[in-house]
Amino acid sequence: MKVLVTGDRGYIGAVLVPFLRAAGHQVDGLDLGLYEGCDLLGGPDPIGDRAPRDMRDVGPAELDGYDAVVCLAALSNDPLGHLNRDTTYSVNLDGTLRVAEAAKAAGVERFLFASSCSLYGAAGSEAVGEDADMYPVTPYGETKALAEKELSKLADDNFSPTYLRNATAYGASTRLRLDIVVNNLTAIAMTTGQIRMESDGSPWRPLVHIEDISRAFHTVLEAPREVIHDEAFNVGRSEDVVQVRDIAEMVGEAVPGSTVSFAEGAGPDLRNYKVDFAKLGDTFPDLKLRWTVRAGVEELAAAYRRHGLTLDDFNSAQFVRLRRINQLLKLGLVDDQLRRTTDEQFPAPGSPALTASDTVEEMH
Ligand SMILES: NC(=O)c1ccc[n+]([C@@H]2O[C@H](COP(=O)([O-])OP(=O)(O)OC[C@H]3O[C@@H](n4cnc5c(N)ncnc54)[C@H](O)[C@@H]3O)[C@@H](O)[C@H]2O)c1
Repeated sequence: MKVLVTGDRGYIGAVLVPFLRAAGHQVDGLDLGLYEGCDLLGGPDPIGDRAPRDMRDVGPAELDGYDAVVCLAALSNDPLGHLNRDTTYSVNLDGTLRVAEAAKAAGVERFLFASSCSLYGAAGSEAVGEDADMYPVTPYGETKALAEKELSKLADDNFSPTYLRNATAYGASTRLRLDIVVNNLTAIAMTTGQIRMESDGSPWRPLVHIEDISRAFHTVLEAPREVIHDEAFNVGRSEDVVQVRDIAEMVGEAVPGSTVSFAEGAGPDLRNYKVDFAKLGDTFPDLKLRWTVRAGVEELAAAYRRHGLTLDDFNSAQFVRLRRINQLLKLGLVDDQLRRTTDEQFPAPGSPALTASDTVEEMH
């Protein structure tokens, strides 16, 4: 298939694009380039040099000839969504719909939307399936819920949107993120030797490795249309729905010499949800998600070691999306709607942290 991946130059895209190519698909990318230069281990570019492109400006002519669009492009996590609510809506909701409408007008038949389990929000103690009510507690979660609803209205005989509600991702990528829990705690343990949680770590969080996310996207891409048409799938493994404190303890065990401590009482994080992943496995019996969190922590620790990850890297804008965005805003390289003010390559992010007050718990 001929596939366009928006947001291909982000954390998941850097793994998904080579995965789809290895499976024989022809893959192009479209990306605003917010994180150019934010690379672990040299970051080979999977697509090659090309101009940055804002998905909010895309028209049907650009999507002509594609069989499928995979929409990863977004302001990609909860704290980022708080930066400016309007901007999050502009990128995550309006931008997604713009690409979907252009795709439909161009005759693209499939649209795979990178949704998130964050849309379940404060879902309570029962594991939530795809039909559960949504209680998003952040602008990010709201935009994912609203985008799914609006995309569903575009579904017809010639256009099949599918909503892949990914659990919180982990794993090594050349476009590493350290603002997601497993990657973050592993980096803290390795660079400081101590994980000091600023809460009791009680919230529940489902996790999934980015290679397994890629596997799920690949399966949906090739599945019969009637199975995926206007369907939502939670993407993750039931054995990896864990409490944040379990993750910290697992990391502490996997990183030699590190210690873990917790503060009394709950943190500021309202997100708390257990997710039911049965539909994914029942619909696609041949799809096997393979990674365990423990293996992921070991993979990350090895990648950090090879890269020589330091506390300075950890505290810089390189691997934390919110810091990089704040840096671009401060330098005037993007405006408050995160539209680029220049097509020149952005300078490397190696300057000191601009939001040093971010705490571990805020970054989950
Ligand atoms: N990483 C996770 O834990 C996770 C979990 C659930 C869902 N998701 C979703 O998966 C997708 C990818 O996540 P990620 O972790 O790779 O994020 P990321 O921040 O690493 O990458 C997002 C990419 O989108 C690009 N982008 C942003 N605005 C754009 C625009 N207007 N036009 C074109 N490109 C734009 C950025 O430049 C970046 O390369 C996102 O939609 C995210 O919400 C991620």
